[in-house]
Parts: sequence; C-alpha cells; structure tokens
Amino acid sequence: MDKLLIDGGHSLKGTVKISGAKNAALPILTATLLASGRSTIHNVPNRLADIKTMRKLLADLGAVVEGDESINVDCSNINNWKVPYELVKTMRGSVLVLGPLVARMKRARVSLPGGCAIGARPINLHLEGLKRLGVDIRLSQGYVEAEAKKLAGATYRFGISTVTGTENLMMAASLAEGNTALENAAKEPEVVALADFLNQMGARIVGAGSEVISIEGVKELCPAECRIIPDRIETGTYMVAASITKSEMTIADCNVAHLEQVATMLKEAGVKIGKAKDGIKVVGPKSLRNVDVGTAPYPGFPTDMQAQFMALMSLAQGTSIITENIFESRFMHVAELTRMGADIKIEGNTAIVKGVNRLSAAPVMATDLRASACLVLAALAAEGTTEISRVYHLDRGYERIENKLSQLGAHIRRVPA
Ligand code: EPU
Repeated sequence: MDKLLIDGGHSLKGTVKISGAKNAALPILTATLLASGRSTIHNVPNRLADIKTMRKLLADLGAVVEGDESINVDCSNINNWKVPYELVKTMRGSVLVLGPLVARMKRARVSLPGGCAIGARPINLHLEGLKRLGVDIRLSQGYVEAEAKKLAGATYRFGISTVTGTENLMMAASLAEGNTALENAAKEPEVVALADFLNQMGARIVGAGSEVISIEGVKELCPAECRIIPDRIETGTYMVAASITKSEMTIADCNVAHLEQVATMLKEAGVKIGKAKDGIKVVGPKSLRNVDVGTAPYPGFPTDMQAQFMALMSLAQGTSIITENIFESRFMHVAELTRMGADIKIEGNTAIVKGVNRLSAAPVMATDLRASACLVLAALAAEGTTEISRVYHLDRGYERIENKLSQLGAHIRRVPA
C-alpha cells in the first residue's frame, strides 16, 4: 500500500488539465452493454482504479475491451449476467450493470453492495424502480437476482434523488416496451451525459437534467461513440488546491458551468475565479473568509466536494458551518484534520469549523476517496511533511494526482509502504 509524502507550504503555479469524469465514464461504459457491436468512448480516465475494475467487469460479462484513453467496447458476445461480490465490494458503481443486463439479457445476478465508509448506501430505489418496469427481483445469499420476460414502461417517482438509481432505470427503460416517466430524477451532469450517449445509441430520452425524465422505449439500440465530460469534482479539488495554497493556477479542459455552487462559495471565501484561454484561472486570497455550506443534489453544493471545502475552511478567518445532507457518515476526514491542528466539532450532520492560523503535518490515514483528497489539500498548506497512507482510495478517483501536483510545484512523492 503506497503512501504519499507532502511537504507543505509551497505555492503552486501553472496549468493543470482535468481528466474525464469517473462518474460519467462508469455508467456510459455499462451502457455499451445495451447494444450488440462496438462502441467507442473517448477521454476515459483510464488510469483510475475504478475504470480498471469496470473494464474487468465488462470483460467478465463477455465484452471485448481495448484501448486506453479512447476505449472500444465490443458487446457482440455478452454471455454472462453474473457480477460477483469481489467486483462490487471494490466499487459500488458496479451496480450500474443491473439496468443494462436485465434490459439486454432479461436477467442479472449482481452482488448487493455492502455498507461503505460514507454510509449505508442502500439500492432499494434501484430495485423498486426496476420492479415497476416489470422486473422480478429476488434477494438471495447477498445477491440481487433480477429476471424479466419483458420490460414494460411505467411511471416511477424516486423517494430520494439518486444518481446511479436514475442512471440504472434510464438504461433499463430505454429498451422497455412503451413509455417511462422517471420523477424526482437526479439532475447531475453525469445523468445528462448518459442520456446523451443513450440517445446516440438510438434511445428516445427527453428531460435529462430536469426533475422528470421521459423515455420512449425502443426495440433495439446500436453502438455509439462519445467523449466523457470533464470531471467536475477533480476540477473543484484543484480549485481548492489553488485557494488553500494562496496560489494562481489555470485549470484547463474543465466545465465550470457544472460547478456553479462550488465557484460561488469559493468566491464568497475570497477566491478569485476568472476565464482563461482553455479553462479558468483561480487565485487564492491572502486570507480566507468563513463560508457556510450544506450539501445538496445538483445543482446544489456536491457532497463529493464537502471534505475538500472543509480543509479550506479549517484555515479561514472565523467559523463555518458545514452540513452534510446526502450521506450519513461522511465526516471521517474530521478526526484526521483535527490531528493536523484543525478545530472542528461535529454535531449530528453538521461540522462546526473554527478557522485556525496554521495546520501542521501529521501522519494521517485516508478513509474514502474524497476524504483522501481533503487530506492532500490540507497537507499542501500545512507546515512540515505529512504522510498520507491508504492512497489506494485516491487512486480510485484522481488520475496521476502526484504528477499533476508536482507539475504545479507541489513537493509530493509516492513511496511504497
Ligand atoms: N439512496 C437510497 N436508496 C437508493 C439509492 C440511494 O436511500 O436506492 C440514498 C443514499 O444512501 C444517499 C442518497 O440516496 O443518502 C443519494 O445517493 P445516490 O444514490 O445519489 O449516490 P450514488 O448514486 O450511489 C453517486 C456517485 C457518488 C456521489 C453520489 C452523490 C457514482 C458512481 N457515484 O453515488 O460518488 O457521492 O452520487 O452525488 O456516480 C465519489 O465519486 O466519491 C462518490 C461517492
């Protein structure tokens, strides 16, 4: 298990290029299962552990997966419909095969994901929605067994806005007989990107990005080609990196329109954000102001940026209140930040962050992907050398983070533990 060593206190400078979005690539890769033939997906963040897991999963099902940043997936010979626990436990996103498999194979056996570091994360709404489309669902020995003679369009209202739930149902409904309406659907840009790809494949989906998605089922889909949208969470993470180190940085190949809330909150904290030639320029202020944030489904403040924003607020003037409204236990980074000198108290789903003048290096441990990013950011600003262990969490979602940060002037290196 590798570790990262970061000497803090160095300012950053230059340009960083944002990779394709992990959470857009995962559902789009599973959507290729819906059609026989070869689809091509460009700008895939291929070095990420989660993408490697998805490639393995697709290959296990009989797909031929080739290429790196541009991936060809040939789903002509899908001959398996079972996804074992080993693949789901390393990546919950594996559950995104459920919709495509029942639609194409009329059956699927996919391990139930267990709890994870950020909360229980059930998939009851995915299953309830599939049942509404006529899928017979059984739970047996930790597996979801799904079977359908045919899928029939229906109206389904999500009790909670769920990103992968919306994606699973959109994929299944694309090949259902008749019309489907998904109400209280997730509006995240990754949902829109998937709908665009499905429409390229011949699906008839309108309303993605709004609360109601309408899908007119078609008999058959064909392979298609697309480019993965820029990763908004990686973009936001580098915006915080510039802000926390009081640096000036250009972030290229990004789409700041997908990050409006994050940009607004950073501006309130005193960060300057302007246009650059092929992206945005971010300038961190000499002193940060405190800002309160509460996470919410898109277009609200993303839960996937909460930990990184907390690292920033731990160095602001005054107290900020950070409320986590999406996941029940997404404050695992707090104890580690506290070990670096942050002053944070938790009350229920709220963190009260009293800004301190400085953070100091300490050995810390990452517990999930975004918590790891938060510790990297804190370490960039801290005095001394921070040692971050369990870097594999980071490798699930940030491509070449130590290379990208080194190129910006950070003193960061990876060492085998
Ligand atoms: N929920 C249910 N039942 C369900 C589905 C969801 O109760 O059947 C609850 C969850 O427990 C949670 C809330 O609904 O409290 C929202 O969760 P959602 O289903 O939207 O999360 P997800 O689809 O499992 C995706 C991202 C996450 C991101 C969340 C929220 C992917 C592969 N994952 O997860 O990304 O945090 O949406 O935006 O798209 C990450 O990249 O670090 C990450 C965790």
